Amino acid sequence: MGEPTAADASSRHTPVLLQRCLDLLGPALTAPGAVMVDATLGMGGHTEGVLRAFDEVRVVGIDRDPQALALAGERLAPFGDRFTPVHAVYDEIPDVLDRLGLPSVQGVLMDLGVSSLQLDETERGFAYAHDAPLDMRMDPTRGLTAADVLNTYDERALARVLHVYGEERFAGRIAEAVVRRRAQAPLTRTAELVDIVRACIPAATRKTGGHPAKRTFQALRIEVNGELAALERALPAAIESLAVGGRIVVESYQSLEDRLVKRALAVGATSSAPPDLPVEPATHAPYLRLLTRGAEEADAEELARNPRSQSVRLRAAERTRPTPDHLRTARRAA
Ligand SMILES: C[S@@+](CC[C@H](N)C(=O)[O-])C[C@H]1O[C@@H](n2cnc3c(N)ncnc32)[C@H](O)[C@@H]1O
Repeated sequence: MGEPTAADASSRHTPVLLQRCLDLLGPALTAPGAVMVDATLGMGGHTEGVLRAFDEVRVVGIDRDPQALALAGERLAPFGDRFTPVHAVYDEIPDVLDRLGLPSVQGVLMDLGVSSLQLDETERGFAYAHDAPLDMRMDPTRGLTAADVLNTYDERALARVLHVYGEERFAGRIAEAVVRRRAQAPLTRTAELVDIVRACIPAATRKTGGHPAKRTFQALRIEVNGELAALERALPAAIESLAVGGRIVVESYQSLEDRLVKRALAVGATSSAPPDLPVEPATHAPYLRLLTRGAEEADAEELARNPRSQSVRLRAAERTRPTPDHLRTARRAA
């Protein structure tokens, strides 16, 4: 497989629930001078859809992966200054907007996880199906690699990562086997890890549970990239960046992410008045309106077109008024 090109960007990653995202964001993006933050630019599929559908909108596209930014930048070059690429982690949204002189935006889109390109780029170590160095960093210019995690965390910490982020039943066994193996030589390749995991999972479970290393790889990817911690910080910051009438859409691909999204949106969509007050003071009324009932999933047609949509959970909300002062203060103190 050669160096990826901009043409690959559009062919390798089909944006998930694109039309639904456009329908949800649309009412906010028709405002004059509207700006949307695509916090997970990836191959730029959603952003291209937005730029085509709404003539006036400008998109700030954030990604921590320099390769994704380069490819999406090439793909979106025809839109000129309607598109601004930014290399950042999405919890830096407030700084990014400050630097661009944007006090608020009309839309935020987050399409979480890894892109098909990252999975296809076998040398980056995201895929259990290909032998590669144990890397898994979305931003290969900084931070711990999967090999660092596997070779330096103590057994308990490793088991916790696999249990919490991978929901792996055999986390303890796998952590013990990793520690035993690395006493002989540090782990360096994904194939070594796959072999270790396979040997730790009983044959009966192996037959039913999909690829035995799937959960371990998910857990390591989340740990290496600090995915849940970044998301937990990013969600309130993204909501805070929305102007009144602005809308946020988030697509998650596993239950830990979706739980954080559900909780962050619920904070704004629920009255902050103490439950025993007979009348809700106006200052405590919700400042978000949920636009989805629970989490939306892909229908059969989308699934047939785009297998990536299999596990998607989409949630969306609209800002109905500014965040009340008492909640802003509480957030700053937290
Ligand atoms: C599922 S892909 C997005 C695909 C995109 N919507 C499209 O249609 O092409 C997710 C992207 O988000 C990026 N990403 C994941 N976590 C991030 C974070 N914390 N900060 C910035 N970018 C992140 C990944 O590098 C990846 O390129």
